Amino acid sequence: MKKLKIGICGWGNVATGLFNTIENNNKFIKSNGNLEIEIVVIGARRDNPKCDPGAVKIERDIFDVIDHDIDVVVELIGGVDVARDLILKSINKKKHVVTANKAVLFHHGDEIFKEANSNGVKILFESSVCAGTPIIKLLTEELSANKVTKIAGMLNGTSNFILSNMEEGSDFKPTLELAQKEGYAEPDPTFDIEGMDAAHKIGILSSLAFGTPLPPDDFYIEGISKIEKIDFKYAKDMGFTIKHLAVSKLNQDKIELRAHPVLIKKDSYLANLKSVRNGIEVETDLLGTLHIAGSGAGQESTASGVISDLVNLANSNDNILELDSNRNIELVDFMSLSFQYYFYIESNITPEAVEKITSIFAKKKIALESIAHKEDLKENISHIIVITDLFLEREIQYLYENILNLESVNKIRSIRIESN
Ligand SMILES: NC(=O)c1ccc[n+]([C@@H]2O[C@H](COP(=O)([O-])OP(=O)(O)OC[C@H]3O[C@@H](n4cnc5c(N)ncnc54)[C@H](OP(=O)(O)O)[C@@H]3O)[C@@H](O)[C@H]2O)c1
Repeated sequence: MKKLKIGICGWGNVATGLFNTIENNNKFIKSNGNLEIEIVVIGARRDNPKCDPGAVKIERDIFDVIDHDIDVVVELIGGVDVARDLILKSINKKKHVVTANKAVLFHHGDEIFKEANSNGVKILFESSVCAGTPIIKLLTEELSANKVTKIAGMLNGTSNFILSNMEEGSDFKPTLELAQKEGYAEPDPTFDIEGMDAAHKIGILSSLAFGTPLPPDDFYIEGISKIEKIDFKYAKDMGFTIKHLAVSKLNQDKIELRAHPVLIKKDSYLANLKSVRNGIEVETDLLGTLHIAGSGAGQESTASGVISDLVNLANSNDNILELDSNRNIELVDFMSLSFQYYFYIESNITPEAVEKITSIFAKKKIALESIAHKEDLKENISHIIVITDLFLEREIQYLYENILNLESVNKIRSIRIESN
């Protein structure tokens, strides 16, 4: 049986979940993973009333963890700057690192992998994307004979929870409050609802699958905070629903990287994953399209990913992926991409509103697949719903400016339509 001596840095949700899981599932880790894990030390700047570390040594300065006789530093503090420092110092002391921290990998991944390679140690990070749902190992090991052409994922559980509830008729704000009450959203939810969390995760997956840099140099990121309940109604009428999708896609010899809300067909695989579930589609040449779904957050799910990294490390015979940190595949300029669009335009009820709006699209030679208007006589407003053909992203600003300039128009928003 292999043995690993570990030091855990951080003593929050994931760290205490890991501590408990190593105790409770010890039997499976030994029999299925052929591994005995010894927690030698915990870096905790304060006690956590939810978990008693027993006789394990506690260091109040997390950097002191590195000085112990351990094989692996498990970084579970989150954040970017201190985590980067901690990881680099661990690497320099020839400790392997397991981390669940997508933010530090997104911002400093190339630097970290380069340091790890030159120091002959490994960085493992299964739980940084979709917690324990095994996507990293799938991409780096199981699919190694495949040419991956696209990864599209719903990678943020909070966003999916909110959108799933809005699909059932709830408004954004109370749904966000419910997500916070249920513990699915942070007190400050900005990172989740403005798309950054999903962006970090697709950045990591894109780097693994295609070799895009970490941090990426060009990346379109938009969250879900502008979507309204009524958009679901109009989307549904046309056979769509709304999800937040993070995409990395081979586009000729460059990579398209983006994270934003989309209309997707209601009968598609991702459309049917509800609540906090995460889901990913991977398009490959040999296996076709693979679907993977699972819990993307939570103490136990994340602990499962961290332990799988430890098992992998202990049993690997040195064949764990070494990421080439000199990757320089170019990203596609987002403005040069073309999308089909859904527009919701709110205007006063006037006979010429639709005609004027149509002429603005026509000026840019943007064909319309459909244009419908529904009058709300009580409010004296008209909802004008436009579905366009494909047009270049760089035209969107012109459309917004000119449509909003029309005297009758009060509001406009739009969502890209994801083609299959
Ligand atoms: N929670 C999940 O479901 C989940 C899922 C996947 C990945 N992750 C990742 O796992 C990591 C940990 O998440 P978490 O939910 O466990 O966070 P958390 O509950 O906030 O715990 C963070 C822990 O790190 C400590 N810490 C933070 N900054 C520190 C610093 N500068 N020096 C010393 N200690 C510091 C905190 O100490 P204090 O208590 O004193 O602040 C706390 O003990 C993050 O990278 C997160 O993105 C989490």
